[in-house]
Amino acid sequence: MGGADDGRETCLRDGTPLSALFDADERTVSLRLLNDRDVHQLELDRVFARTWLFIGHESEIPEPGDFVARHMGEDPVILTRGQDGTPHVMLNVCTHRGMTVCRSDTGNTATFKCPYHGWVFGTDGRMLGAPFERDFYRGGLDKSSLGLRKARTETHAGLVFATWDHNGPSLADHLGDLAWYLELMLARTDAGLEIVGSPQRFIVDSNWKLAGEQWSGDSYHTMTTHKSIEDLGFFKFTSLLQGIHVSSNGNGLIGIGEIQAAVNDTDTTVATDDATANLSANLELLRKMPPGGMTAELVDQLPNHLTPQQIQTLVTTPLMIAGIFPNMLVWTDRGFDSDGNIAAIQRIHVAQPKGPGSFEFCSWVLTERGAPEELKTSIRRASTFAGGISGWIEQDDADMWQAIQHNARGHQARHGHLRYNTLSQPSRPPGWQGPGTTYSPYMRDENQWNWWLRYHHTLTQPVTPPVQGDK
Ligand code: FES
Ligand code: FE
Repeated sequence: MGGADDGRETCLRDGTPLSALFDADERTVSLRLLNDRDVHQLELDRVFARTWLFIGHESEIPEPGDFVARHMGEDPVILTRGQDGTPHVMLNVCTHRGMTVCRSDTGNTATFKCPYHGWVFGTDGRMLGAPFERDFYRGGLDKSSLGLRKARTETHAGLVFATWDHNGPSLADHLGDLAWYLELMLARTDAGLEIVGSPQRFIVDSNWKLAGEQWSGDSYHTMTTHKSIEDLGFFKFTSLLQGIHVSSNGNGLIGIGEIQAAVNDTDTTVATDDATANLSANLELLRKMPPGGMTAELVDQLPNHLTPQQIQTLVTTPLMIAGIFPNMLVWTDRGFDSDGNIAAIQRIHVAQPKGPGSFEFCSWVLTERGAPEELKTSIRRASTFAGGISGWIEQDDADMWQAIQHNARGHQARHGHLRYNTLSQPSRPPGWQGPGTTYSPYMRDENQWNWWLRYHHTLTQPVTPPVQGDK
């Protein structure tokens, strides 16, 4: 690669300029982007070292000393709850000679002791000591410079994000208008959501971007890729036809309406333009058909956490799928368990890159802490049935992604393109309460194309965040 930081255009090893892989007029991107080592290294340097990345949910580390092992791009990191209650994210690489400091996926500890020579670090990453320190290090160890490398960490709606860019945009800037929707999906009750168990993890032999761009808004594929669920009689895709896309900063939301239609036979009517005046009518509707994962009792807590505008959006558009750039999905939906019973799906997915041709699919299930046990069980079963390693949705999608990746390696096929040609203009449905650029009717390619624009922008910005060097 050449021309990374000197003002010249970045070129791949064979001289192909990066810009040749994107065509903004045709709205295409080259299949080569899926299977190129140079592109992958650029992504690690400029996407995964620069943007905010989802690390975990606050409920995974409730107590001081709790930790989980995660990744940022291909770097191993540890998410901890410090002794003062603050979440920390730090590189899981020893500053002595590069060993993995923490080899457990999860646990509680007062310190991390490196298994190689025994250097010890605190739950906030500070270097605390080394074996035979006084005898072996006569000049003394400058512990202040030998702590584990720290990432910048912020939270929103219970989600912990981190970035290596200590001087870049805030998490609020990164999430843009999608932050508003994440709140009504994830931060709506007094006790909040909690993660059930550990995340499922499995390897998909494909490039992480195929998941990232699909999650930003590919509603179009659902009626074909996932048609088997309609054939089996579980679901009617016509119910997906009423929906909206919201796009902000490359993040994308799919919203699908349901409640008003489902309770139309009641005598409760809702106007669509004044959410404050409609608050009690909206709450009445939500008690009749609570949002997925909630009960009528929990609906009463919504005004403690959400604005009337957010509550009205839960009425008009209760099913939401949010793709957060670059590699995260938040999914609150209505599905069914393996017995065909209707139940809520609540999942978070992350596509963690493992080289250009492989990613680790990490997937969490969430339930409301205050929900009855039988509801939690049904959410866990429905979420697993739909979205886990054996889930009908993930099996379908992984099959597509792996076949595309295989094709991207072909001598002829790698010269092909991914096309985003279905167009729509921004349009705001009457009474829509939420922020962001909205597209209705939806199922077009705007959200995904906006994801690719954000990707292109991030990949072609020459300055990589400085790496804090060990002293
Ligand atoms: Fe960690 Fe030596 S590599 S103590
Ligand atoms: Fe899908």
